[in-house]
Amino acid sequence: MSFLGAPHGGLLVDRELAGEAREEWLGRAKEWPVLPVGRRTLSDLLCLATGVYSPLTGFMTRHDYWRVLDEMRLASGLVWSLPIVLPVPEDTAGSFREGQWVALVDEGGQPVAALRVEDRFRRDPVYEARQVFGTSDPRHPGVARLLQEPRVLVGGTVWLLNRPELAQEEGQYVLDPRVTRAVFAERGWRRVVGFQTRNPIHRAHEYILKCALEIVDGLLLHPLVGETKADDVPAAVRLKSYRALIEGYFPAQRLVLAAFPAAMRYAGPREAVFHALCRKNYGCTHFIVGRDHAGVGNFYGTYDAQRIFDQFAPGELGITPLFFEHAFYCRRCGSMATARTCPHDPQARVTLSGTAVREMLRRGEAPPPEFTRPEVAAVLMQAMG
Ligand code: ADX
Repeated sequence: MSFLGAPHGGLLVDRELAGEAREEWLGRAKEWPVLPVGRRTLSDLLCLATGVYSPLTGFMTRHDYWRVLDEMRLASGLVWSLPIVLPVPEDTAGSFREGQWVALVDEGGQPVAALRVEDRFRRDPVYEARQVFGTSDPRHPGVARLLQEPRVLVGGTVWLLNRPELAQEEGQYVLDPRVTRAVFAERGWRRVVGFQTRNPIHRAHEYILKCALEIVDGLLLHPLVGETKADDVPAAVRLKSYRALIEGYFPAQRLVLAAFPAAMRYAGPREAVFHALCRKNYGCTHFIVGRDHAGVGNFYGTYDAQRIFDQFAPGELGITPLFFEHAFYCRRCGSMATARTCPHDPQARVTLSGTAVREMLRRGEAPPPEFTRPEVAAVLMQAMG
């Protein structure tokens, strides 16, 4: 028996074909027009098919797209904060008509999914950028990417025919929501906190994870392994650093390390809501939102990604956000702390920017132990030095 909450919308979506049905569909797909898709769409396909994006069953039609932009809701009224869309090149757009079947193929031409076209419409990139990212400034990596994408979008349900290949190291850590739910149930966990991260885990992350672990039964340590911007630490290196941290500093029986296959959007507040809903589908009851969650540069205020949760009535999300202030090591306290628990001067605090840490690692210098555990620093220095 499981004590975990229901997936978003009530049912876990499963659109992966197997066995004879899959063979049959692979045969049919040979007759269909082909649309090559990139790594981000492959991530979306895996998430759609395995229920990470429940209740979505495919790429959004215009009804969902506009309501998500305007109100952070699907046409059904259910909360959803980011568009999940399929852009198609303008010159081929004519071949995507309502009712048409299309084979979505990867770079090597291997069919990955079947799509039944239900809608074809134009996006408004500047409006979309403002609504989703809070800016249309092309220096924002999410905005830059959106402005480069084709403007025609195709909506429709999908069926997965072949699992998209993720890089080997990362791929083995992907656990479908069905699987994480079974693991949590087997361990008898009632309260499970999800943690999104796209960075190596430093002491501040470790601190908030441990604070959360004091009050829940288990932790889903859920690093994102989909596409990130080029200067983020590669997923394979991060996974190695998480293993080193867990071995040295966490009770293994109280956590599950698995990979989150979605791509990073850098949409700050809206992505925090999206991250929470996806983790609800994995079976989490709680979700950590710290400082500048899913942020980039200075595009968002430090706690904007926490405030956005006030816009929803209790119960609408079905997952409880756990908010944490900016954590740091305080030399006077002799421990990790936040402004909520530490009265000392900023000079007593060890704070390092990501850029400063990257510079140190490149020079072969370990960041101080108050900032990074030596075991984690060793992995990062080896990989980046
Ligand atoms: S994110 O883009 O995935 O949010 P990151 O991996 O840096 O980036 O952060 C993971 C989570 O830890 C986020 O919820 C973020 O808000 C939180 N976080 C990161 N650094 C700190 C910090 N110093 N204090 C409190 N929370 C933090």
